[in-house]
Amino acid sequence: MLASMKAARGLASAAGAARAMSTKAATVGVVGASGGIGAPLSLLLKQSPYVGDLRLSDVVSAPVGSKGVAADLGHIDTEGLVTGGDGPDAMKEVLAGCDAVVIPAGVPRKPGMSRDDLFNTNASIVQSIGKTIAEACPNAFVLIISNPVNSTVPIMAETLKAHGVYDKRKVMGVTTLDVVRSNCFVGNELGRSMKDINVPVIGGHAGITILPLLSHIEGANFTDEQIERLSHRIAFGGDEVVQAKEGAGSATLSMAYAAARFTESLLKAAAGEKGITECAFVESHVAEDKGCKFFSTPCELGPNGVEKIGEIPALSDFEKAKFDEMIGDLTKQVNKGIDFVKNQ
Ligand code: NAD
Ligand code: LMR
Repeated sequence: MLASMKAARGLASAAGAARAMSTKAATVGVVGASGGIGAPLSLLLKQSPYVGDLRLSDVVSAPVGSKGVAADLGHIDTEGLVTGGDGPDAMKEVLAGCDAVVIPAGVPRKPGMSRDDLFNTNASIVQSIGKTIAEACPNAFVLIISNPVNSTVPIMAETLKAHGVYDKRKVMGVTTLDVVRSNCFVGNELGRSMKDINVPVIGGHAGITILPLLSHIEGANFTDEQIERLSHRIAFGGDEVVQAKEGAGSATLSMAYAAARFTESLLKAAAGEKGITECAFVESHVAEDKGCKFFSTPCELGPNGVEKIGEIPALSDFEKAKFDEMIGDLTKQVNKGIDFVKNQ
């Protein structure tokens, strides 16, 4: 465990003490920090007692680069440092010694596009960031937001492997937005507080590969119509936002919220807090018998990242059929990412 995380361990018990000591808390990098997700995510992380040193990086300096975002956030009266540097050359210096790096870098969808349509642009972006991480902070947790997550996570894994620094417990695709959306839609449907709802979402992060397990919500008793409608809305929730933004991008604010939740869960667990579980898209054994090497299930987080990968929970007949429908697509998207690096 890195020194700053060791220091953070003592912070887990008391949030007040944590804030007072937060300059010793984790060093966290955000790559793509001046983007639609990156800027609000950085704002949320600036408020976390678990983040003592926030490092912002982006490839562009205009219209507002990460240096500008950092200067702006630096005037907020929460503890913790924030610095930024723009351009590919500055990235290595910015990320040096990070305990965790969150990556919302790359292009978002426009109406009519699938996440896989982003592959040609974002695959190389994620690979190049992976090379920098391998040199600058090889022990860092790597949290990937850039789409298509089903392929970019395997790309990051293969890139770090090629540099001899891959630890499968530390590379995670952030699928928390699917959980957050599920909790929101289900809470509204049931007229119940969303705080009491935590829907497990398994599979991947694209269309039908997003499989919410509505059968695991206590006391819900959904009709078949509700299950069909809610499952579809959750799986295609991203499209709703893409369409509403009319060509100006995809979900940014809800994603920033979801990524901040996941990052803080991980940092809490790394600091020694027990019993923290989040769904994450990771190298996993759970669907290996189907040929699929990466999969999202609820994972127990700890000092080394993913300490325990949860098995696929019991599935209803509806969920089994959806699993069978999507596993082939997910496997192809995972393999596309692996092959992208291996075939170079
Ligand atoms: P955006 O265009 O607003 O911001 C992306 C930022 O990345 C820009 O500032 C850009 O300069 C930067 N960037 C591009 N290449 C880079 C590189 N090589 N190094 C560093 N920075 C680089 O886009 P956005 O709306 O913030 O979305 C970012 C990504 O997140 C997209 O791929 C999008 O599809 C994805 N996304 C994922 C989820 C999810 O649930 N995992 C949710 C929403 C969006
Ligand atoms: C989402 O689920 O909102 C993101 O993956 C962005 C997108 O392209 O839909």
